[in-house]
Amino acid sequence: MLLVNTNAMHVPVHMTLSLDWLVPAGIAVVGGYLLWAVITFLSRDPFDPLPIIGHWHIFGFRSRAGYMQWFLDRSKYVGAGKTWEYELPGFGYELFTTDPACIKHVLVTKSKVFSKSRVYAEVSKDFFGASILLATGVHWQAQRNAVKAFVSPAALADIADRILPRNLQRCFAIFDAAAEEGRVVDFEKVVADLMLSTFGEAAFGVDPEELITAVAEPFDKALEGISRRFVDPLWRFNAKFTPNGWKVARAIATVKLYFRDMISRSLAQIRTEDMEGTAVAPSRAGYSYIRALLDSKENISAEDIVDSCRTALVAGRDTTSDSITWTLYALLRHPHYLRRAISEFDSLSSLPTPVPNSDLLSHLPFFDTVISESLRLYPSVPLNLVDCSSSEPVVLPDGNIVEPDEDVLFSPWVMARLPEFWGPDAEEFRPERWEDMEHKPSAYELPVFHAGPRSCVGQNLAKMEMAVTLKEMLTRYTFEMGWDGEERVMGEGITNPMLGGLPVRIRRRTKA
Ligand code: HEM
Repeated sequence: MLLVNTNAMHVPVHMTLSLDWLVPAGIAVVGGYLLWAVITFLSRDPFDPLPIIGHWHIFGFRSRAGYMQWFLDRSKYVGAGKTWEYELPGFGYELFTTDPACIKHVLVTKSKVFSKSRVYAEVSKDFFGASILLATGVHWQAQRNAVKAFVSPAALADIADRILPRNLQRCFAIFDAAAEEGRVVDFEKVVADLMLSTFGEAAFGVDPEELITAVAEPFDKALEGISRRFVDPLWRFNAKFTPNGWKVARAIATVKLYFRDMISRSLAQIRTEDMEGTAVAPSRAGYSYIRALLDSKENISAEDIVDSCRTALVAGRDTTSDSITWTLYALLRHPHYLRRAISEFDSLSSLPTPVPNSDLLSHLPFFDTVISESLRLYPSVPLNLVDCSSSEPVVLPDGNIVEPDEDVLFSPWVMARLPEFWGPDAEEFRPERWEDMEHKPSAYELPVFHAGPRSCVGQNLAKMEMAVTLKEMLTRYTFEMGWDGEERVMGEGITNPMLGGLPVRIRRRTKA
């Protein structure tokens, strides 16, 4: 009995003890977790990734302008000249650097190891194909040689003095009509078509109107769609199974179809010229990009020419038309610089001999600084990335390690806005800073035209086109803001288009 009684009493005592411990233990655990969560939240780096989704909330929900601002905010937060990491599910870890030494390392010192990013190639190969932007080795070299041969001094002079002025007439007709009717015009669209027709005529010998009608719209749609894929972990699914993905695919197909047809006509024309002995020689005006491609490589396929020409048009059109648009925007927001630029243009007419367009920029020292400042704040390629193709990790000059297959990103747009690099007025449009500067920034301190073996081959052409176009327009017309005057931001695209374009009001100018 005693035994039974003792056992019978033992059970309830044990249970009571357990409950006594469990309640305070539970409170301690929950309270401790909450305290830890609050402390972690308060001491957390505001740019830290979220569990599982990493930084997807930044890229998935923000516009391009929004995530570029995030890159800038974080670069300011960690300090200029630093390298930091972010995480995007589907793309893995990526390094972002504003350190010029690291940029030099990946673009020049280790250029053989850091190639065009795998991500870049994957998301854009249905548009860029085997073209210069994605090609490597001899395919890349041949195309680079062809572009260089195409932008010879003779070709530049021909574009400046003959092709561009002729194509500008189309813009003047649009401006005249808008001035007459008091209509607001999208300046960005007019200039994009101008660069399309000018580059198309010079590089492919195509009728300007044909090119504008056939590809201007699908071209923009395709590039906008591709640019969104860069930050969309589900882009493969979206490209195949969503209405927007189908629209982009249709736009790419339209552009490709047109280019196949146009190139086959050009090749037939080239064969005729060869037979008749009327072919244009290299370094001569009229030496087309298609001919330069044929001369650059034996047995180049028609499909390679098609890919290469499509990409050349992105390089030659969008970059420059964006730069011209942002330059006018900056001048409209800073009327004193606009007045100074116009008076410099007007002063050319008092020179004893007219200045040829091909030599224009050397006579416009102030406008030269306007162009530099505009390209600094609004670079046509605001964000760029290269991929580590080495099988071993690579150590950057600042000690950071790039793992195989990891991307390194850099952004002239971000670097130009860092006060440590450009002073407290870094984000202001101030062309004089280029007059005051003792040393011009290196290509790594401001990689607007990239650097190293893959640097831009068209920068002289681009600057000349910027100067001629804006001089011809601003000496004929007065432009006024056709928007509320608020800051405008970049839109979606591979280059740097303006969100919503640039609405302007136009009047014919009466010279003072
Ligand atoms: C303001 C205008 C321009 C800017 C800011 C600019 C900038 C750049 C940048 C940043 C790159 C490197 C792209 C990359 O590898 O991801 C590049 C490459 C290139 N650019 Fe330009 N560009 C401009 C105008 C032009 C023009 C007018 C041409 C016409 C011929 C051109 C031809 C090229 C070519 C062919 C490449 C590829 C070079 C290679 O991979 O070897 N660019 N440009």
